[in-house]
Amino acid sequence: MLDIKTIQSLRKRHLGPSFSVSYQEPLHIVRGEEQYLFDAEGKRYLDAVNNIQHVGHCHPVVVEAAQQQYEKLNTNTRYLNETIVNYAKTLTDKLPNGLDVCFFTNSGSEANDLALRMARLYTQSKQTIVLDAAYHGNLSSLIEISPYKHDGPGGAGAPDFVHTIPMPDLYRGKHRGEDASTGYVNEVQTAIDYIQQKDGGKPVFIAESLMGCGGQLVLPEGFLKKSFELVRQAGGICIADEVQIGFGRMGSHFWGFETCDVTPDIVTMGKSMGNGHPLSAVVTTREIAEVFNNGMEYFNSFGGNPVSCAVGHAVLNVIEDEDLQHNALDVGNYLLNELNKINHPLIGEVRGLGLFIGVELVNDHHTLVPAEKEANTIVNRMKEAGILMSTDGPDHNVLKIKPPIIFTRENADELVFNLTSIFKEIS
Ligand SMILES: Cc1ncc(COP(=O)(O)O)c(C=O)c1O
Repeated sequence: MLDIKTIQSLRKRHLGPSFSVSYQEPLHIVRGEEQYLFDAEGKRYLDAVNNIQHVGHCHPVVVEAAQQQYEKLNTNTRYLNETIVNYAKTLTDKLPNGLDVCFFTNSGSEANDLALRMARLYTQSKQTIVLDAAYHGNLSSLIEISPYKHDGPGGAGAPDFVHTIPMPDLYRGKHRGEDASTGYVNEVQTAIDYIQQKDGGKPVFIAESLMGCGGQLVLPEGFLKKSFELVRQAGGICIADEVQIGFGRMGSHFWGFETCDVTPDIVTMGKSMGNGHPLSAVVTTREIAEVFNNGMEYFNSFGGNPVSCAVGHAVLNVIEDEDLQHNALDVGNYLLNELNKINHPLIGEVRGLGLFIGVELVNDHHTLVPAEKEANTIVNRMKEAGILMSTDGPDHNVLKIKPPIIFTRENADELVFNLTSIFKEIS
């Protein structure tokens, strides 16, 4: 086995320098099982951050499904194949009526890019409304609509067809207090008015229903519902990005958008969908799919191949057979409650739904100055204690917790115990 130093030097020589590595002392992970990762020395880490390995690292049912299908056939969507259509049916059965047409892709970025193409074709408009600090993917089309990237280091800002709403953050955002939700909804209306006056175009609105890169931000009550209404009144359409939050993680609901009482026109999903296998999808209405069917074939070499579909189907089965949505609710609520009991001046807000939780750290409860340095120190100390977390939010001051949804109450206790000790140490 190569040692850490050799891997680092090979990486330096042969991988692009803009790939990042987690932690001050990088980890050399060689094996994963359930909610645990193991390094080359055999040290066990509790994985509290990997929402891609949704039902646990290397889940045997998922691995077996992939292996069996690989041994039989792997082609593409140009042949009739029951594995593909069975999966499409089971997946769309999980969505509200009307959202029943699938397009399979290979990453969250690919799904969002395809969703944008459909939305823009349908509305005949490129005018896009996004939430500040949102991240929707790494393709050029998505850097354009991701303030997290285009307003960050190396970014060139938003293009003129992208309209950014202040992040609907009730804790440190532009609007706070009682009427804050209305304040943010009015920002959406202002963007719609601008789009209509400037361009006469119809708005395309894309949002996560609980923001990931925004810092595990739960949207204000009514914000998404009212925003969807305004966008639709203006003839626009709404895309829900479920790449981080879908597939039962919210606990109370299977999809994030359901927690906001909305039904999108287009849903995009990825990450957890394949439990680490590159699988993603766009699901939309028949009407939108027919408009997209304008003569140009949609072909994707890998999207929707039988192996990917077998994997995706196995993930859905495991979520159901192991009652994992319910586990996300139970353990998520327990963890939120325990985190709320930690009494430390750095903790500004504990928030989240199910097993998608953020702990926002501030240096001062009046000025709300973000405690980025401290958040980074804590994440590195937690790693030394054998627990993997990371930071998020535009100021990198939110501790993010989004483990595989097999996480147990005992895991939650281990996390909170260590976090409490580290908070004590650094104060
Ligand atoms: C909300 C959201 N959408 C889309 C993406 C892009 O997904 P991928 O990295 O699979 O391309 C991400 C990735 O982190 C994401 O968080």
